[in-house]
Amino acid sequence: MSKAGPIRLAVFASGSGSNFEALVKAIRKQTLEAEVALLVSDKPDAFALTRADTLAVPSVSFYPKQFPSKEVFEREVLDHLKEADIDLIVLAGYMRIIGQTLLEAFDNRIINIHPSLLPLYPGKQGIQDAFDAGDKETGVTVHLVDEGIDTGTILAQEKVVIDPDDTIESLEEKIHAVEHVLYPEVIQTYIKKLQKEYA
Ligand code: GAR
Repeated sequence: MSKAGPIRLAVFASGSGSNFEALVKAIRKQTLEAEVALLVSDKPDAFALTRADTLAVPSVSFYPKQFPSKEVFEREVLDHLKEADIDLIVLAGYMRIIGQTLLEAFDNRIINIHPSLLPLYPGKQGIQDAFDAGDKETGVTVHLVDEGIDTGTILAQEKVVIDPDDTIESLEEKIHAVEHVLYPEVIQTYIKKLQKEYA
C-alpha cells in the first residue's frame, strides 16, 4: 500500500458481474483512482468472466469443491493475489464466506456490497427478503468483511424506496442502479483513507 502507482484491486464475483463492470468503468472514467488487476471467480461459468474478457481484465476461476479444504482453496487464491500484487479485495456478488486465510492476509482490506439495509436481510437473497416482507424501503450497504455473513463495519448505506407497484425485477433494477454508483464512490473514499494511514 505504501508503494507508488494506483491501488490494485481484485474483484471477486460469483455471478453476472454488473458491479465488477461498473467498477472498471468508474476507473476508466477516472472517478475511481485504482486498477482492477484481477477478477476472481468461484464459478467458472459466471458471466462476470465473460465481462472480464470483454473489458480486457485478467481473470482466474476455481472450483472450490475440488480443494480438500477452504484453507487450501484460499491459499491458492492468495498465491494469485500476491502474484498480481493486489492491495485491496472487493467482493461484488461473491457468494462464499471469506475464511481466516484471506482475512488475515487482507486485514481491513476486504470490502463487500450487499443489497439490503444491514443488519436486515443478510445472506444470498437480500432483495427478495425485503420484497417478501412487504417493506416500504430497503437499500444497499457497503461494509468491511469479517468472519460473519454480511457483518463487519458499515462504510455506507443508501436507501431505496419500494413502491407499491414494484415487482421483484423492478426492485432489483433500482438496487443495482444504486450499487453501481455507490460502490465506486465508497471504494474511492476508503482508498484515500488507507493511503493516508499507510503514508
Ligand atoms: C449484488 O446485488 C450484490 O449486492 C449482491 O449480489 C449482487 C451481484 O450482482 N451481493 C450479495 O448478495 C452478497 N451477500 P452483480 O453480479 O451483477 O454485480
